[in-house]
Amino acid sequence: MLRNVTLLLLAIAHISCQVTKNVRQDVRKFPDGFLFGSATASYQIEGAWDEDGKTASIWDELTHNDPCAIRDCSNGDIADDSYHLYKRDVEIMRELGLDFYRFSISWPRLLPSSFPDNINQAAVDYYNNIINEMLKYNIQPMVTLYHWDLPQKLQDLGGWANPNIVDWFGDYARVAFQMFGDRVQYWMTINEPYQICYEGYGDDYKAPRVNIKGIADYMCAKNLLLAHSKAYHIYDQEFRPSQGGSIFIVYSATWHEPATDSENDIQAAEEANQFTWGVYVHPIFGSGDYPPIVKERIARKSAQQGFSRSRLLELSPEEVEYIRGTSDLFALNHYTTRLTYRNESVPGSFEIPSFEDDMEVIRYFLDEWQIGESTMVKSVPWGFYKLLTKIREDYNNPTIIITENGMSTSAGLVDEDRVINYKRYLNALLDAIEDGSDIRAYTAWSMLDNFEWRFGYTERFGLYEVDYESPERTRTPRKSAFLYKEILRTRTLDMNYEPDTDVMVIDVGH
Ligand code: BGC
Repeated sequence: MLRNVTLLLLAIAHISCQVTKNVRQDVRKFPDGFLFGSATASYQIEGAWDEDGKTASIWDELTHNDPCAIRDCSNGDIADDSYHLYKRDVEIMRELGLDFYRFSISWPRLLPSSFPDNINQAAVDYYNNIINEMLKYNIQPMVTLYHWDLPQKLQDLGGWANPNIVDWFGDYARVAFQMFGDRVQYWMTINEPYQICYEGYGDDYKAPRVNIKGIADYMCAKNLLLAHSKAYHIYDQEFRPSQGGSIFIVYSATWHEPATDSENDIQAAEEANQFTWGVYVHPIFGSGDYPPIVKERIARKSAQQGFSRSRLLELSPEEVEYIRGTSDLFALNHYTTRLTYRNESVPGSFEIPSFEDDMEVIRYFLDEWQIGESTMVKSVPWGFYKLLTKIREDYNNPTIIITENGMSTSAGLVDEDRVINYKRYLNALLDAIEDGSDIRAYTAWSMLDNFEWRFGYTERFGLYEVDYESPERTRTPRKSAFLYKEILRTRTLDMNYEPDTDVMVIDVGH
């Protein structure tokens, strides 16, 4: 009897605890000083692909030479035409009430020869115009130096597989700091190393589609880490003393969750995290080299396969030292989660040496994670929470800023799925903050629909819809834009808030 009463009391306590949690979670305040922004990237929005001296990037090359490699055979020749419409873009930032806007500089626009011998004044004017227009309204620029539009000429020389890129990138970064650093306080060196190296060099999924598996991806990884560090040291030594900003790399991390609680699957998830993003995080935020499991696995397989050295090129003690600690913030792009497993059939099932063969993990999505029609983003907010927790635990609670999060929908202004997804992911982020994660900012990807790489204009990520049929590339706020504006205005997440989608106005004072 006593036992039954105790159980009953425990059950009631459990229920009321859940209720309390739910009540508390309905309306939640963001910490004081938390910043909100939104983001885009040069090739995805600028257009004007060959205007005013700009030369071709690897994405111009890909889309012009093999148009239907893109789902709708489109390209970024005009895209959102932001090269001409930047004033409207800043107006949108004001409509939303953004604290900052993250955009990227196009390397072949700023340096048409790829090198600093010819600085393109039209490009300097263009980026100055955006920055100055934003600052007029107190919107901070966050600038990415490399968001995937490598000058084609450098690709002809091997691109990220050529160790000389360390100097090329350093020279380019220095020009950007010289031109814009008096007003830019947040510099991002490179956006998403794993996507650049694996998808562009180890596979044919993204430009430049080198597809030399298990080799070019690792050459790229080493050069990219060193190039990032070079830019960091240049800023740190030559510019930080007078300009006082911060500089960091931007990671993209998918959360990998074990498919079952078997030892094999747990290990598979951990290793998928290490192979996909740990490779780039560990050298900077960890002990200063690649994760041990990644080094050992690739070295062992390379030897078995008859290579004379590991396909994952070693970092010398000097390089480890040069790279370690070169990021002022942990900048994270996050979109989704995957389940992982490994069983006896997995090792050896990949026919040639490759990243997948090295990793020995099978990854997949669950159907129940699907909301809406996005073929890219499955909505798994608890994966975001787990990822943030792991970063806090493994890397000594670094200061994190979320530099991208969002989801794609098809065209249309009533984007219920995006509204749900933003609420859920911000809620998960608040859970992590409550547990002690030091997260200072959030960036919605994207402010505008834009050229979504291999998906062209078929997958839309924008808070604002862009009408690609209109010469003006008319921008119209979606339902999610009204939600985001309200979150920014109140600094609060209300899970039950239903946006009023009448008209978008610029709030006085912004
Ligand atoms: C990239 C963006 C891209 C977004 C959605 C990120 O990986 O940085 O350029 O549009 O994901 O796919």
